[in-house]
Amino acid sequence: MRGLLSPGHERAGDTAIRRLEPRLELIRTWCQPFGAIADIGAHEGLLARWLAHDGHVVWATELTSGGFRELCRGVAGSSVVVRQGNGLLPILKVPVDVVILAGLGGQTIRRILRRRGDMMSQPLYIVQPIPDALTFHQVVAAEGWTVVRADIAQYRGRYYPTWMLTMSGPPHNLEVEEAFIPREFCQAAGYAGWLERERDRRRLTLRYHQTERLIQELGLLEQELARIKGG
Ligand SMILES: C[S@@+](CC[C@H](N)C(=O)[O-])C[C@H]1O[C@@H](n2cnc3c(N)ncnc32)[C@H](O)[C@@H]1O
Repeated sequence: MRGLLSPGHERAGDTAIRRLEPRLELIRTWCQPFGAIADIGAHEGLLARWLAHDGHVVWATELTSGGFRELCRGVAGSSVVVRQGNGLLPILKVPVDVVILAGLGGQTIRRILRRRGDMMSQPLYIVQPIPDALTFHQVVAAEGWTVVRADIAQYRGRYYPTWMLTMSGPPHNLEVEEAFIPREFCQAAGYAGWLERERDRRRLTLRYHQTERLIQELGLLEQELARIKGG
């Protein structure tokens, strides 16, 4: 039945899999050079299925038993290996090259990454926090992560900053501007658009709720946007 493809699906060997959103397609592309990949909080396992189709060894995890059932249903018939558990716990003893943490909040990702020292392997981490990516940048800066890659996926007017990270060296202290402005994304097509969105959010909040911190952040965003436009 090769001719019959449901809308939004793509052919993947003998089956059809729902097409990925651009933010997950970016992650799929970044995974290409690597063998073994873990997707933490994989939900229904759509990205995991595509990665398995691409030839990677894939582990996919979910936190709750309901989520785990959904994941099992989603990847049934594929080679994806499923595990239930919190964050990195189910894969501590699994040799993986890359760990994906996408679609989780920045604080959840930060908590999950605290267990990275217990991992048997020293993987790269692909991180796509939703929605608080600008806050997560401060974690990247303050905890001394090394940015291997950084790009911003865009879809339907939304911005999805995404990092590939590795841990190197001890935490270092950064100047306020360096910690707040996410310059690692300055080559990304969506950089100015994302910062404008963050600026507008702060302008709106400041109409109702003034804090020193918000005023300072707004100033830094405006400076950076002026720098981009000037240069
Ligand atoms: C919004 S979905 C994102 C799914 C997918 N990663 C994506 O980017 O589309 C977040 C998923 O992470 C799971 N999750 C949340 N906290 C988790 C944790 N600590 N460990 C594992 N999974 C978690 C949730 O159950 C949910 O299915």
